[in-house]
Amino acid sequence: MINAKMEQLLNEQFHREMGAAMQYLAISSYFEDQNLDGFAHFFRLQAQEEMGHAMKQFDYLHTVGGKITMQAIPQARAEFGGYVEAVEFSLHQEEQVTQDINHLMKNAVELGDFATQNFLQWFVEEQVEEEDVVRTMLAKTKMVDGNSSALYLLNEELKNRKAEPGADATL
Ligand code: FEO
Repeated sequence: MINAKMEQLLNEQFHREMGAAMQYLAISSYFEDQNLDGFAHFFRLQAQEEMGHAMKQFDYLHTVGGKITMQAIPQARAEFGGYVEAVEFSLHQEEQVTQDINHLMKNAVELGDFATQNFLQWFVEEQVEEEDVVRTMLAKTKMVDGNSSALYLLNEELKNRKAEPGADATL
């Protein structure tokens, strides 16, 4: 049976991951509106990954005898001052999630909850990868900002991004 504090913290993280999925969908929608379908595709896959993260927490909580409490998810930001700002915002989101996961891990260590530490280790590694993916995306977006030919080529490149294995089978 999971510790009540850890159960609450994992519940909060489940909602943050769902919120991250909604935020990425909002960014995908922003790029759809700009007719940048490659960028929109990239962020749609990010949303799918976040949904996968939320469902891992959903499943884990049930496996260890916890409960999910369905709560409101804050409204996602839908307007941005430009392409770079939209991607920058997604990097800030990933950095925040990394801090959240670290906070969860710290609590799992303090509570002597070895099972949850083991569970969270996957998220620790995933956040390193997620930050790297978005940081690279931001660098590329900054490079092409203001150059329509380069923007066109990057948009075409992003259409080829494939979903991570298993990321589409989360529900
Ligand atoms: Fe689930 Fe990208 O954090």
